[in-house]
Amino acid sequence: MSAAPYTILVIPGDGIGREVIPAAVAVLRATGLPFHFENADAGWECFQHHGEALPSATLTAARAADAILFGAVASPGYPVAGYRSPIVQLRRELDLYANIRPVFDDLPENGSNPRRRKVDLVVVRENTEGLYAGRERVEDDGATAIAERVITRRASARIMRVACDLARARRNARNGSDAPPGRVTVVHKANVLRETCGLFRTVALEVAQAYPDLQIDEMLVDTCALQLATRPERFDVIVTTNLFGDILSDVACAWGGGLGLAPSANLGERHALFEPVHGAAPDIAGKGIANPLAAIGCAALLLDHLAGHAPADLASAMRGWSARIQRAIRHVRAAGPHTPDLDGVATTADVIAAVLSHMFDT
Ligand code: NAI
Ligand code: MG
Repeated sequence: MSAAPYTILVIPGDGIGREVIPAAVAVLRATGLPFHFENADAGWECFQHHGEALPSATLTAARAADAILFGAVASPGYPVAGYRSPIVQLRRELDLYANIRPVFDDLPENGSNPRRRKVDLVVVRENTEGLYAGRERVEDDGATAIAERVITRRASARIMRVACDLARARRNARNGSDAPPGRVTVVHKANVLRETCGLFRTVALEVAQAYPDLQIDEMLVDTCALQLATRPERFDVIVTTNLFGDILSDVACAWGGGLGLAPSANLGERHALFEPVHGAAPDIAGKGIANPLAAIGCAALLLDHLAGHAPADLASAMRGWSARIQRAIRHVRAAGPHTPDLDGVATTADVIAAVLSHMFDT
C-alpha cells in the first residue's frame, strides 16, 4: 500500500465541532492508512474575526481535497448582514446533492430500552434546493416574509437514483436468502404542496420504474414522522426533500442513541463531505463532555466512500478499518464509557480512548 496520500480537509468550525472532529482525525490516523490532513477555517467565529464565514481559501482547499471532515458551525438565529451558513454554502458550491443519514440500533433490551427495535434505516435528503434554496424576501415594509421552495426534475431524479442504488447495495450486503428486499419510501406532502412536492413525487416514481427489484412506497411527511417514532423498523431507505429530510433525520436519530451518535455524508459527483448531524451545541461547548461518536462515525463513512474509488488492496483495507471503527462505536455505545447525553459521566477524551482501544480488538 504505497499509494499517494489522500488529502483530508478538516474544518472543525465552532463550538463542539472543535472537540469532536479531533476524534475523527485520531481514529483515521490510527488506521495507518495514507492520509494527509489539512486544516481550514469556517463558521461564526471565523466570520467575526475575518468577516467571512467561508473564506475563499477554505473553499479552494475543499475543492482540492479527496474528502472533507466538517464539525459544526454556530449560526445566529437572527439575520446578520453578510453572514450565510458555510455548510449550506459548501453543499451548494461543491454540489453535494445527496445527504446520507444512517440510523442503526441493535442495543439489547434493557431498562432504558424496554421496547427493543431493530432499526436500520437511512434518510436520503436532497441537499441543494427545496426551502434551502436561499430565495427569501420581505415585502409590505417588513409585514410579509416570503420563502420560495425550489424543486427541479433534475435534482429530484438524481436524489431518487442515489436512494435506489443505496437500497440495492444495502440489500446485496444483507446476506441470507430470507433477507428482505430493498425498500425506498418516497416522503412528500403532495396533497398540499401540489406543484413542488407533486413534481418531486412524480419524478421519484418515474425513476423507480428502473428498479423493479425494489419495493417502492410513498408516505406523507407528517405520517412519516409518526411512523419513525412508533414503527421505525418498517423503514429501509427514506428519500425526501431538503427541509423534510433535515427534520425527519433528527427524529430518526433518536433510535441510534441521539444526536451525539448520528453521522452523515454529503456526496456529489466530485466531492464528499462528512459531518455529524448535530450542531455546535453551545450549551455544552468547552466542557469536554461532547459525545464524539457521531464524528467518529463520520470517519467510518469517509473510509467507505474513499474505498469506492481506491485500488483494490487499499479499498479492502479501508473497508476493514471502517468495519472496525463501527464495531468499536457499537461496543462503546452498549458498554460505555458514556458521555452525559447517554446518561454517563465520561468525557470526550474517555470515549475517544475507548474507541481507539476497541478498534484493535481481535
Ligand atoms: P445542536 O445539535 O447544536 O444541539 C442540540 C442539543 O443536543 C443540545 O442540547 C446539545 O448539547 C446536544 N448535543 C448535540 N450534539 C451533541 C454531542 N455530540 N454530544 C452531546 N450532546 C450533544 O442544535 P441546536 O442547539 O439547535 O443549535 C446550536 C447551534 O448549532 C446553532 O447555532 C445552530 O445554527 C447550529 N447548528 C449547526 C449545524 C451544522 O453545522 N451542520 C446543524 C445544526 C445546528
Ligand atoms: Mg438538522
